[in-house]
Amino acid sequence: MVTWGALLHFLIILSLPLFSKSVYHEESSELKTEAGDLNLRCIDIERNALLKFSEGLIDPFGQLASWVGIDCCRWKGVHCRNQTGHVVKLNLRAVSYSSRLGGKISPSLLDLKYLKYLDLSMNDFQGIPIPDFFGSFERMRYLNLSCASFSGIVPPHLGNLSNLRYLDLLAYSNPYDYIGSNWVSDLNWVSGLTSLKYLDLGYINLSLETNWLQALNTLPSLSELYLYYCGLQNIPPSPLNLNFTSLSVLDLSYNHFNSLPQWLFNISSLATLRLSSCYMKPSISKAAWEDLCHLQALDLSYNEIAGDISDLIGALSRCSNHSIEMLKLWNSHMSGQLPESLGFLKNLRFLHLDENLITGPIPESIGKLSKLNYFGLAENQLNGTIPESVGKLTELTELCLYKNSWGGVLSQKHMEGLRKLEYFSVSSSNEAFSINLSDEWVPPFSLRFIEIDSYPLGPKFPTWLKTQKQLDSIILTNVSVSGTIPHWLKKLCPQIQRLDLSYNQLGGMLPDSLAFPGYTRVIVDFSFNRLSGQIPLWPNVTHLILANNLFSGSIPTNIGQVMLRLNILDLSGNLLNDSIPLSISDMVYLQRLDLSNNLLYGEIHEKWRNLQEIRVIDLSRNNLSGNIPNSICSMPNLFWLKLSSNSLSGELSSLKNCTSLSALDLGGNEFSGNIPQWIGESLLSLVVLSIRANMFYGNIPEKLCHLYNLHILDLADNNLSGSIPSCLDNFSSLSSWTPYSPYSHYSYWNYVFIPQMVLVVKGLPIMYTLTLYLVKAIDLSRNNLRGDIPEEITHLSTLGSLNLSWNQLTGKIPDSIGSLKQLEALDLSHNNLSGPIPLSLTSITSLSKLNVSYNNLSGKIPSTNQFQTFNDPSIYEGNPGLWGSPLQTPCLTINKGKVEGCEAKDYDNDEDDTLPYYISLVLGFGIGFWVVFGSLVMKRSWRHAYFRFLDRVADCLYIFIKLNMAHLQRMMSKE
Ligand SMILES: *[C@@H]1O[C@H](CO)[C@@H](O)[C@H](O)[C@H]1NC(C)=O
Ligand SMILES: *[C@@H]1O[C@H](CO)[C@@H](O)[C@H](O)[C@H]1NC(C)=O
Ligand SMILES: *[C@@H]1O[C@H](CO)[C@@H](O)[C@H](O)[C@H]1NC(C)=O
Repeated sequence: MVTWGALLHFLIILSLPLFSKSVYHEESSELKTEAGDLNLRCIDIERNALLKFSEGLIDPFGQLASWVGIDCCRWKGVHCRNQTGHVVKLNLRAVSYSSRLGGKISPSLLDLKYLKYLDLSMNDFQGIPIPDFFGSFERMRYLNLSCASFSGIVPPHLGNLSNLRYLDLLAYSNPYDYIGSNWVSDLNWVSGLTSLKYLDLGYINLSLETNWLQALNTLPSLSELYLYYCGLQNIPPSPLNLNFTSLSVLDLSYNHFNSLPQWLFNISSLATLRLSSCYMKPSISKAAWEDLCHLQALDLSYNEIAGDISDLIGALSRCSNHSIEMLKLWNSHMSGQLPESLGFLKNLRFLHLDENLITGPIPESIGKLSKLNYFGLAENQLNGTIPESVGKLTELTELCLYKNSWGGVLSQKHMEGLRKLEYFSVSSSNEAFSINLSDEWVPPFSLRFIEIDSYPLGPKFPTWLKTQKQLDSIILTNVSVSGTIPHWLKKLCPQIQRLDLSYNQLGGMLPDSLAFPGYTRVIVDFSFNRLSGQIPLWPNVTHLILANNLFSGSIPTNIGQVMLRLNILDLSGNLLNDSIPLSISDMVYLQRLDLSNNLLYGEIHEKWRNLQEIRVIDLSRNNLSGNIPNSICSMPNLFWLKLSSNSLSGELSSLKNCTSLSALDLGGNEFSGNIPQWIGESLLSLVVLSIRANMFYGNIPEKLCHLYNLHILDLADNNLSGSIPSCLDNFSSLSSWTPYSPYSHYSYWNYVFIPQMVLVVKGLPIMYTLTLYLVKAIDLSRNNLRGDIPEEITHLSTLGSLNLSWNQLTGKIPDSIGSLKQLEALDLSHNNLSGPIPLSLTSITSLSKLNVSYNNLSGKIPSTNQFQTFNDPSIYEGNPGLWGSPLQTPCLTINKGKVEGCEAKDYDNDEDDTLPYYISLVLGFGIGFWVVFGSLVMKRSWRHAYFRFLDRVADCLYIFIKLNMAHLQRMMSKE
């Protein structure tokens, strides 16, 4: 199981094959010389073999249309040997969506006795196994079956291909499927491939292979080895004898090693070593870095290396050959300062140190890295200056300096020589930092991407930006610009992929006719400004985020027809009124609709059936009335539905078929009736359920206890009666540790959801995003619940908040309440509970909020552990029998139930003070939602680094993106 986080990491941590001298080229050039003569003659038996093969294939787009006529040597993808006419090469790699083949692979191919080269990569064989007979091509030198949706067991028969030089079985098949290869293999068969130079087994599950190194050590000619995402668990601390004398590329990323053995650094032939995301927490001695002089590329990203960056760079700077060209330690817990010796790494082209703990300045010597192309220091703690020598980096195309604490000035001098700069980002949390770029400045570069945030550039837009005619991504958030959108910016819109001007003071109306390009993603975010007037209609935009402005009037009725491409529509927090336009149902690509916090009224219409892609709907905080329409459940992917704080009424039966729902918030409406039994039968995916502040009555149905995944249950503020069901301990997610987010199954390759929930903790809203799945709460307050607090509730060992206040509960607080070891907030106030405060409560060290006021509790208030910090007497008041600190009067005598001398002073507190919602779920949840590629764009340089430094998987993925883009464009043009 892979969390979305890991997924994202995976997407992002990509590296470059620039340094791999691929044997592939060798092979193909050799073959090229054999083909190409127009006077070739095709051999009959081979032509028939090809025809039979093509009959088995599914070729929906006519890729093999040229496979007719007598001379098969002229057929597309078929190459014959010049002198003999034998087919030697078959290249059917799919290069576009419409060239993907599927179907069966006929054994007739074996008649191609001279076949040396077979490439079926990127096709879609829909899970059929690799044919066993592939192991019988005696002359085969090149076999590429990567990314072609084969599955099953790798046939060991492949081990017979003793002439094979190149084998690519990268099992990653479809970015739109859930990650995970179903190819399983051991490595015993590999030892037969004695000529092998290139081996890629990425994504093949090798977790059962206990000695992968020994198996591969029999391949002395191996030059490139890719074993990423293979589930490898162990790496020998010290292999006896390594046969790898020509190994130049080793990629072991995304496995699960605990250590980083020194021998990996000692393979002297190695030029590229990739070990990112291997869960390593190595203790690397300073001396270990001294052995890296043979490396050109080193990637240790996403491991807890926790070294001092100056040790590593210092050691590399002492290598006389200056071989290092790429250094990637993204998110590796590196600390320390960048040393002056950085300047000696004169061949460095790619330096990626984002997301570490590096402090200090950038050394002056940076200016000597004349080949530096990518320089990433984002999200560190650099607190010194940016030297002007940065301006000498004439080859630099990307400079990522955001999220640091830069001091000093950034001026034109810093940018003087950056002729090739295309991607630039900077931000500083340090007020002492200033950006000093004059309005008259004409930069030497032409940027495509700029991001400056949280710096007061305004109130005007910087004039020099007008000179940047190639910009396609402009992110100027929280930079204090005001006024209307300038003319030059409007002129750039036809090339914009991302325009984010959120958190500024922009005002006025938006032009209704801005032209945006027909890219797959066009993201426009103007949220948190002062824009007013009508919602604009911009046809090509895919993500329109206008939240928290002053837009008014009705949502244009034709919005769905004009903005047909929308994936995300967020108009929340405006002054929009009238009803929800019917045409929204025409936005067939819509994934998230947020119209919350407006003045919308009328009924929720019935037309939801077309929205087959939608995941998230938030219509909360409006004046919507009427029932929930039945069609709301016709959206198969809907998992987050929020309708709270409206005037909706009726019963809930229309939600019965919404089986995909994970979160349902109906709080603050006028729903009534019993809580339906079927919620516990149909909505089994529910993680969050809130129906607070409605008019539900009757018992809490036992069936609710079947919602095993539930981790937030909020039934507060209704008229529920009866007792608290004792089966609440069925909520297994509340009684066990959930290592993974329950949302992880929404982490497809194309969509990453980041659910967010605002919880109000003592009056302060706190946004939970990634940790939302850790929030576990039950709120049954403000009902008429009677009877005891069931002992079973204390089995919910991971519960974080329990609120049972304002009911009529009786009996004692269960002694075992101390088993709620994770409890942070407990409110039992305003009930009729009696007996003492159980001493076991003092063992809950996480408890920070407690209220037991207005019960009939008695005895001494515990005074150990957390209780020492509960100094506010109001949390105990209204319990005549309770005494001890912090109540003013220690009560020693109780006389016929009447307490003497211990009246608490002040009984007429304002209700808000006694209102014990330390954690109030009423505000429910909003959702942040990103599309992976959107987020790559959003994450500034990632996108760029991502596309430019493609690794093997990225290569695959990139092609899939292209495939699907083409597909989408075709679909769009058809419409
Ligand atoms: C094909 O063979 C002919 C004659 O054997 C030779 O002249 C020609 O250069 C060859 N073509 C290629 C591309 O090798
Ligand atoms: C090195 O490879 C040869 C086969 O080429 C094999 O016989 C030998 O055992 C290998 N050495 C080790 C240490 O595995
Ligand atoms: C930068 O941070 C380090 C470590 O926190 C500190 O020792 C140093 O004085 C700071 N330098 C500046 C210029 O603020």
